[in-house]
Amino acid sequence: MNVTKRSSISPHGGELIQRTVTGEERDEVLKKAAGLKKLYIDTWIRSDLELIANGAFSPLTGFMGQQDYFHVLREMRLSSGLVWTLPVTLPVSRKEAADLQVGQEIALIGEGGIVYGILHLHEKYSYNKEEEARLVYGTVDPAHPGVKKIREKGEIYLAGPIWLLNEPSHHPFESFYLSPKQTRDLFAELGWKRIVGFQTRNPIHRAHEYIQKAALETVDGLLLHPLVGETKSDDIPAPIRMESYQVLMANYYPSNRVRLVIFPAAMRYAGPREAIFHALVRKNYGCTHFIVGRDHAGVKNYYGPYDAQRIFDQFPAADIGIVPLFFEHSFYCKTCSSMASAKTCPHPEADRLTLSGTKVREMLAAGTVPPAEFTRPEVADVLIRGMKE
Ligand code: ADX
Repeated sequence: MNVTKRSSISPHGGELIQRTVTGEERDEVLKKAAGLKKLYIDTWIRSDLELIANGAFSPLTGFMGQQDYFHVLREMRLSSGLVWTLPVTLPVSRKEAADLQVGQEIALIGEGGIVYGILHLHEKYSYNKEEEARLVYGTVDPAHPGVKKIREKGEIYLAGPIWLLNEPSHHPFESFYLSPKQTRDLFAELGWKRIVGFQTRNPIHRAHEYIQKAALETVDGLLLHPLVGETKSDDIPAPIRMESYQVLMANYYPSNRVRLVIFPAAMRYAGPREAIFHALVRKNYGCTHFIVGRDHAGVKNYYGPYDAQRIFDQFPAADIGIVPLFFEHSFYCKTCSSMASAKTCPHPEADRLTLSGTKVREMLAAGTVPPAEFTRPEVADVLIRGMKE
């Protein structure tokens, strides 16, 4: 069955890229891989490799060459003209690069010596770290987690198409893993035509729940799509978050309208550019709508609270395809006795319950349950227990 035709929304670029080798062909390629040059990859690259192969990063078929890289940095488009806002690149040291020849096939090896994939090396190129930091993250401050990453990584990018031979483990979330092809099939089975995707790297507090449910009022289903790849060390670990999402869903969400699926990507903290990237990727998963709230993919004060919404104005809606749903900063208002935002609540700041992320983390670490108007008690329990372990 043709997945592209079944889903109500086309993948970015029109085709859901599939680059996983299976069956006898896989056995042969694995045999061949034993004799190839080896390159050891970290979990970030392994995750990009997987997301290219399973179509989440469609239309990418490999790690970006120089022409696409520059286009993405400077125009926020691939050289084909398709919107794409973040580089997806394979960095190596000069020494590693010197040992590899353009035209070669290279075995990409991860933890435990597993051959995850093959790279057909089409290009090697150097890049300007400062330029990349400035254009992607809007800052060169090494305290920004994305900039820190750029400074640490190798000086040369390897580029070319890839094939995936072994799917990375999603332990302990195997039962929550679905590829874009599988979510598209799932939405078709469920009869959902309008699906809103929700990206998160945090526990779901009442504000998140409010904007999800506000969106859900106008569509058929919600794809709760937490990012479980690499995050910065002070973000709440994925296993605790996943448990908190499950208790929340069990107690407060209609089971026939929501699906919890992991998004095994690394977090970039690129604010506005990452919001576009997150939206395009969720389109590939079959979502028709995507929530962009306050300071989406932001960190500290590097971005304005609504920069990640405003960036959408720079593109014709048809070039993005998926419909962004923008939400203002949401909070509980004591006078309204409900969740609200400045768009719906006329009361002063003093009536509003807002807690900073730092404050909430401090409360949870001290075993203090935040007010139920901020976090559901079942979620708070999971978080307090998780932080003790
Ligand atoms: S993110 O880095 O994945 O964006 P987070 O998990 O905190 O961080 O946010 C998930 C989504 O909820 C993002 O779209 C974000 O903008 C939105 N969001 C988070 N908190 C609020 C809030 N209080 N009001 C409105 N939107 C919010």
